[in-house]
Amino acid sequence: MTPALIPPPLSLYVHLPWCVRKCPYCDFNSHAGKGALPFDDYVDALVRDLEHDLPLAWGRTVHSVFFGGGTPSLFPPDAIDRILQAASSRLRFAPEAEITLEANPGTAEHGRFDGYRAAGVNRISFGIQSFDDGCLQRLGRIHDSAEAEAAVRLAQDAGFDNLNLDLMYALPGQDLGMALADLERAFALQPAHISHYQLTLEPNTVFFAQPPQGIPDDDDAWDIQERCQERLAEAGYAHYETSAYAREGRQCAHNLNYWRYGDYLGIGAGAHGKITLGAEQTILRRWKHKHPATWMEAAGGAGAIGGDDRIEPSRRPFEFMLNALRLHQGFALADFEVRTGMSRDSIQAALQLAGQREWLVVSDSHVVPTALGRRFANDVIALFL
Ligand SMILES: C[S@@+](CC[C@H](N)C(=O)[O-])C[C@H]1O[C@@H](n2cnc3c(N)ncnc32)[C@H](O)[C@@H]1O
Ligand code: SF4
Repeated sequence: MTPALIPPPLSLYVHLPWCVRKCPYCDFNSHAGKGALPFDDYVDALVRDLEHDLPLAWGRTVHSVFFGGGTPSLFPPDAIDRILQAASSRLRFAPEAEITLEANPGTAEHGRFDGYRAAGVNRISFGIQSFDDGCLQRLGRIHDSAEAEAAVRLAQDAGFDNLNLDLMYALPGQDLGMALADLERAFALQPAHISHYQLTLEPNTVFFAQPPQGIPDDDDAWDIQERCQERLAEAGYAHYETSAYAREGRQCAHNLNYWRYGDYLGIGAGAHGKITLGAEQTILRRWKHKHPATWMEAAGGAGAIGGDDRIEPSRRPFEFMLNALRLHQGFALADFEVRTGMSRDSIQAALQLAGQREWLVVSDSHVVPTALGRRFANDVIALFL
């Protein structure tokens, strides 16, 4: 029998697209802001965009909110307050909802974090990247290491105890010792969570067109990754997803919902959403126009929508695995069924093959990737295409 799709927990993603300067490695939908930024108009447009998406989420509870960018910390606290007020008066918020805001240390003014906290933000995610001033310069960052540390302390002084620090490794001119030194500087600030990303050269970036000198080769990058993983574990940060490490109980609820194939509304320029429509027994993906000016003008109407896509049942196992197999704890087969509307029998052959190759450990109720499976993640996921 085909299982029924049951709507999973709902999150809200809010895209704030401007940055002080575009970093040469970054392919996010982020734009160097020129002159005074239209914060008020953008917030008005967000509210219209949310209203337009509301019929997709009637009666549902929001479990997490994520202000991503771009550089959300460019937005003044009263703008963030207005967005949260508008969202929480239109959608029910869980009392313990995790509300994260991404911050660039170069935008951390005194008093700003108190304002975000008063608005309801309870988690800050800092784009630190490195604590080495040479590396920061080669990455084109607008801050140095002292400013990064000062920004984290400002947030802590404002009462934020749930902080994430983004670090990147395999940076131009970086060796193993430098990558480990970055971790030690991060540990000294005692964040709840660390995201540790390997620098990738993304198409349509300056680094892709003109790769910088001194990027560690694959073997050296692997070495850095393995040694850093060990150090993170020793320091009490459990590795729970490809690039995510957390202290006990401090995993990122918002990202966990993505990785568990949960639902999310996406508002703002270029934002993506995924919503399970129980009555129609379908999964809808919706994305908004990427360019801030185009999106702002059209927000509130169908013209702001870049596209709508209903996910055919046959595509869902692949989409589910793409997310769930990033998690070290894997997933429950019962969740696979209610989140994809597909029976476990439909993936039996692929699971069996992955089990034989020692990529997955499959029991009656759960599927867990092995270390080998995590290393060959793309091959594992391809079995579910
Ligand atoms: C959208 S950015 C948000 C943070 C904020 N805009 C900043 O940079 O300070 C999220 C994170 O993605 C990571 N990232 C961006 N581009 C990357 C790349 N090409 N390779 C690896 N990680 C990248 C960085 O660690 C960055 O902090
Ligand atoms: S500040 Fe963050 S989002 Fe903006 S360009 Fe740099 S990495 Fe990308």
